[in-house]
Amino acid sequence: MTKQSKNHKQISTRLEELYKSIEEANRRYYVEDSPTISDAQYDRQFRELEELEREHPELARPDSPTKKVGAKPSETFQPVAHREPMLSLANAFTEEEFLQFDERCRKLLGERASELSYVVEEKFDGLAVEIVYQNGMLHTASTRGDGEVGENITANIRTIDNVPERLPKKLSSSSNTPERIEVRGEVYMSLEGFKALNDGRLAAGEPAFANPRNAAAGSLRQLDPAVTARRPLEFVAYGLTSPDELPFETQAACIAALAELGFQVDPELLPSADAEAVLQHFRELGEKRHALRYEIDGIVAKVDAFNLQELLGARSRTPRWAVALKFAPEEAFTVLNDISVQVGRTGVLTPVAELEPVEVGGVTVSRATLHNQDEIDRKDIRIGDTVVIRRQGDVIPAVVAVVEGKRTGKEKKFHLPDTCPVCGSKVGKEGEDDVGLRCLNSHCPAKLIERLKHFVARRAMDIDSLGSKLLEALVDSGQVSSFADIYELEQEQLASMERMGEKSAANIVSAIENSKQVLLSRFLFALGIRHVGERTAQLLAEHAGSIDALREMGQDELEQIPDVGPKVAASIRTFFDDPEEQAVINELLRRGVVPRAEKRSTSGAFAGETVVLTGSLTSLTRDEAKSRIEQAGGKISGSVGKSTTLVVAGEKAGSKLAKAEKQGIPIIDEQALLARLG
Ligand code: IVH
Repeated sequence: MTKQSKNHKQISTRLEELYKSIEEANRRYYVEDSPTISDAQYDRQFRELEELEREHPELARPDSPTKKVGAKPSETFQPVAHREPMLSLANAFTEEEFLQFDERCRKLLGERASELSYVVEEKFDGLAVEIVYQNGMLHTASTRGDGEVGENITANIRTIDNVPERLPKKLSSSSNTPERIEVRGEVYMSLEGFKALNDGRLAAGEPAFANPRNAAAGSLRQLDPAVTARRPLEFVAYGLTSPDELPFETQAACIAALAELGFQVDPELLPSADAEAVLQHFRELGEKRHALRYEIDGIVAKVDAFNLQELLGARSRTPRWAVALKFAPEEAFTVLNDISVQVGRTGVLTPVAELEPVEVGGVTVSRATLHNQDEIDRKDIRIGDTVVIRRQGDVIPAVVAVVEGKRTGKEKKFHLPDTCPVCGSKVGKEGEDDVGLRCLNSHCPAKLIERLKHFVARRAMDIDSLGSKLLEALVDSGQVSSFADIYELEQEQLASMERMGEKSAANIVSAIENSKQVLLSRFLFALGIRHVGERTAQLLAEHAGSIDALREMGQDELEQIPDVGPKVAASIRTFFDDPEEQAVINELLRRGVVPRAEKRSTSGAFAGETVVLTGSLTSLTRDEAKSRIEQAGGKISGSVGKSTTLVVAGEKAGSKLAKAEKQGIPIIDEQALLARLG
């Protein structure tokens, strides 16, 4: 065999593999609404296929998935032919790739490139739908299907509250609504709707949907419209065509017309942007995406002018005038190799997924929390399962669902042990409302290590040069068995530990020394009293004024402090009544730890004010603004209420500003804030 033909054979084999895998993935995604590979894996295979076909067009199949849209519609629904094919979108996975798209458009437009402007829309993560209106009445609705023929889902679409049944007679002030119009858009589920739906399903013993997209697709493609009607679906419109003349020539005007007709349109729309503004918007939405009420997986940039769109034309499955610029995927599929058990600061046993390492949201993840046994049971997670991992922004990676289609029958169920994996003591629930199991041994070394880690953390005593490994070694060797022991550590002793030098030992000793002068609020937070987070610690410090005063406060007195309810008050009392905790606190004080109360300035520029910050500030971060206002005697509150005396409104301030205006509360802008801070 010649080298060339051998090579060809290998390529043909790989092409076949990719065809099979992508076709199967398409069927699972579009027809069964239960994908078995992640979007990122799909995109990677699709790219590889495109590249191989580009290099070896002679080997490409004419019916390749790169030349088609979606999958053949399911036979469960009546077919509907689309008058205009429903195309898909080309993807850009990096800013660089978007700039290449822009470059290509300019080149193809030649002299007319100067007219190029983009409309930027969100890329909604739902499913594409076409709704046809005849004489102003909803006539037919269909899914995209294979782009040419979709599924008739008219009865189901009618159950969606925000899809108008009837349209206004006028499309704009000068023009009547055409006899036939075709509205395209996305059916999706809000995050709130998704959560409520899944909570209900789990409570009824039904499997949860892995994500809002699957939930939307599964809900829309129901044979019984009564089922769809109970699902919280919404529709957002992004396209409008008609066989008759339309009185507008741009995508931006098209969206405006859709809004006038009563459709929900993209609330984040950027109607006119050059390439740099597209990227700017992409970055901003990337920051903001988790604060939105629905999921988006990127943005879509569309050439605004229809005549330029026509000049650019389309390939077989995607137009040349639009591109989807995608965010880094935050979900991935991987195998759950094992489940280990971690013992936390309060003794809670947390099951942790040990995963086949996988890249999610830009980092490699090999462990993820499984929360507790109830969660494992509800999601029916078994060792050996293929699972969906999600890592959103800074949130700890979690296992969101099992890919049931990948089960082989060899998966093993998991149960938390009835003894502590670290000290071997009995585990159990401490109170009735305890969700998880705890190690009941108050001397469990795992608890101690976790409590010590929390104690030295930056936001607590700020001795974080005393790292986890070193703490573990100090506990294991019996040199540290309480918070107080930290204050007895000596430089030589530390320097003699494994992998420690004189210099780091000296740094730690000086960090320990510095930590003795500590704010009362941080000290209280560091103690790790159950239910006392940073904010409660701050309130306790402000009200009690000293550790001694706090130790003396009774349950009733504690409950007088804002935000401290019976549960928190009881937990504080239990803590201070525990003789061991008392002894440790006394030891800490004896060894020179001096918790001092933060004094609220009574003469500062914001003395006596309760301030609400809203909108974004440009010259300082929100945290900086908060701490400077606090230093100047002000109190920060999260919401506008009776006690609010002042609102600082930054850019794009929203409902809080409106509420303040309505209630006649004084409002200042960023400049006035800076001036007043001095
Ligand atoms: S325009 C020819 N606009 O993304 C243009 N699609 O990957 C085709 N999608 O099938 C659609 N948000 O389901 C368009 N603002 C948006 C979109 C959007 C989400 C979906 C749609 C489409 C898929 C292509």
